[in-house]
Amino acid sequence: MDVMTSVSGMQQYALNEKRKGRTLGLVPTMGYLHEGHLSLVALARERAEVVILSIFVNPIQFLPGEDLASYPRDFERDRALCVKAGVDCIFHPAPAEMYAADHSVFIEETALSTVLCGASRPGHFRGVTSVVAKLFNITRPDVAVFGQKDAQQCRVIQRLVRDLNIPVEIVVGPIVREPDGLAMSSRNKYLSPGDRRQALCLRRSLDVAEALVRDGERSVPELKAAVLAILGGVPGLVIDYVAFVDNETLQPVSGLQRPVLMALAVRIGGTRLIDNTILCA
Ligand code: PAJ
Repeated sequence: MDVMTSVSGMQQYALNEKRKGRTLGLVPTMGYLHEGHLSLVALARERAEVVILSIFVNPIQFLPGEDLASYPRDFERDRALCVKAGVDCIFHPAPAEMYAADHSVFIEETALSTVLCGASRPGHFRGVTSVVAKLFNITRPDVAVFGQKDAQQCRVIQRLVRDLNIPVEIVVGPIVREPDGLAMSSRNKYLSPGDRRQALCLRRSLDVAEALVRDGERSVPELKAAVLAILGGVPGLVIDYVAFVDNETLQPVSGLQRPVLMALAVRIGGTRLIDNTILCA
């Protein structure tokens, strides 16, 4: 497995592989890898001959006061996991390699990015679209794989690729969960044992909504009330949003005429956690 730390080295690597006629798959990550990330590697493996995984804690997608400095990092552990998962090349640049001191070009998606996490984290998606566009230019992938765990990020990236005619196929992998239902996340490391138990209320909320829909419930206000009753009973939990939005447009809906993205964002003990499911009538 190769490890590239320079942009020019990574670009050369990608070009060489392309000249050999090989297809390239990219899995962008911020590292501290878990089974969720590795499931995306497996999907890339199925679709491309060369799998590149990027590890870059992208400073411009963190807001002031967020966890940029404390975001978990363990490159040696990540490297070993990548070898085991069959990654061909890790791209692991330093921040200064990605952003010149006078970096001044950003890419902004202006509709889907304004709601949900974009409303509570203004500027976050501008950082994501900017870095993902850079990663696409550096690695020139035929296919790039993202996780449904960050459903809004997937929609924003799909729009980025559509609107800027970037020649890459976007594949979305399902949410990978711990045995007890908690969606895997690098940030789960921040949770104390007590927080960790409380965090199960996210999966429980999704389960209850899914069960209500199975039993015929179609009213979003009713579904929302049931979820708020669960989350409201968890001491110390702060709700950021409980949203039922159209799965394509991310606009609020009142019923289940079309597939609905039920998305949750909460804070438990200072850690921001998100989860989601798609509800279909
Ligand atoms: P990061 O949080 O490291 O996630 C990298 C990829 O793994 C994302 O596509 C995310 O949706 C996916 N992922 C995370 N947890 C998952 C889970 N439990 N199951 C399935 N997939 C999961 O998302 C980012 O990094 C960054 O914003 C990035 C796209 C790399 C741009 O900096």
